[in-house]
Amino acid sequence: FFMTDIIEKKKRGLKLSKEEIQFVIDGYVNGSISDYQISALLMAIYFKGMDEDETTNLTMAMAYSGETVDLSEIKGIKVDKHSTGGIADTTTLVLVPLASSVGVKIAKMSGRGLGHTGGTIDKLESIPGFCCELDAKTFINSVNTIGAAITGQSKNLVPADKMLYALRDVTATVDSMPLIASSIMSKKIAGGADKIILDVKFGSGAFMKTFEDALELGRLMVKIGNRAERETIAYITDMEQPLGLAIGNAIEVIEAIEVLKGSGHPDLLTLCLEFAAEMMRMAEIESDKSKAVAKLKDSIDTGKALEKFSEIIKNQGGNPKVIQDYSLFPQAKYELEVTAAQDGYVSKIDGVRLGTTAMKLGAGRQKKDDVIDPAVGIWIYKKVGDEVNKGEVFAKILANDRAKLDWAKDEVKEAFEFDLKPTEKRKVIWAKIT
Ligand code: URA
Ligand code: CA
Repeated sequence: FFMTDIIEKKKRGLKLSKEEIQFVIDGYVNGSISDYQISALLMAIYFKGMDEDETTNLTMAMAYSGETVDLSEIKGIKVDKHSTGGIADTTTLVLVPLASSVGVKIAKMSGRGLGHTGGTIDKLESIPGFCCELDAKTFINSVNTIGAAITGQSKNLVPADKMLYALRDVTATVDSMPLIASSIMSKKIAGGADKIILDVKFGSGAFMKTFEDALELGRLMVKIGNRAERETIAYITDMEQPLGLAIGNAIEVIEAIEVLKGSGHPDLLTLCLEFAAEMMRMAEIESDKSKAVAKLKDSIDTGKALEKFSEIIKNQGGNPKVIQDYSLFPQAKYELEVTAAQDGYVSKIDGVRLGTTAMKLGAGRQKKDDVIDPAVGIWIYKKVGDEVNKGEVFAKILANDRAKLDWAKDEVKEAFEFDLKPTEKRKVIWAKIT
């Protein structure tokens, strides 16, 4: 093959063969194809698109471009959940112990990365002693003995995606459906799960801004997953406002513990019960949805789910006493409550503004080697549709830098909009694609 022919073909909107796509990915990863030729091809793909065959072939070529994870030593069906990312999305921290407490084997690999807050790994590391750097053997043994483990990603997983993403970022080709779908699905397939649940979020706080775009992406990824012989389903969920109430690291772990204690926010609980029940079906533990949900609720009510979280924490070197005593988490030096200026109802919450504020307080990374401050963040106490009274606290800022307190308070105030008339609450789950 010649790269110029392949670019020419896509430029004219023709379909690339599996072999041509393999040639491109192999050549890019081994250095024989240059950035500028790949850039031209990406732009051609951006304008001409790729069909499902091409997108699936691209996904598979990328998935096997580096190391892959072998979970075959774990007995049972391994189900993974992936979110396209959102604000106050504490789902994974709840789902791992909850689903594990009813018998689903969870071998969770998570990242750190850039963002408003740290990734799942950063959040868990706010638990004193908790270690997320498990070698492959310890990881697999942990899942086999206690049912769940969480580890950081191997650095050589899907190198093709790391290289392509960096190039897309500087060539204005990130927002292409086949490129997004193959990027996400290649990582899921390399991660070794048998079955995949995708949480595709839409709204101001999400990567996909509209419901329609999220639906298109969800449908495409479900098709790719199923073609790759990994049963895949997708949910389209709301990110027009933060999902839970905590935006930070330690406080998101605290929020997850609250859900496992039965006192979490209903929106977060709804999503976790839905995903966990689907995990039970996919792992062939319980096919009847209402029975699955009943078992999960029972696991919360009896303390089984919380006990599982304690076990996971202990197994990875953490102090499980944090579950009963939140003062064992890193504490912020300053707290500032934000109060309502008048009576009304929350009509809008700008999650990105809250997320950016939390990040600037130290909760997230702006650059790759920034250090996360686990203690800082923002609690919100109201969501869209909730009533507030004059003087009532609707948010709380946790900070270690006193100079940022007043600025953060103004940002949080600006992020909330109020109305005098009652406003509708937003639904969480908008669609399910199977
Ligand atoms: N998330 C990814 O992992 N890849 C994309 O291309 C977009 C979002
Ligand atoms: Ca009132």
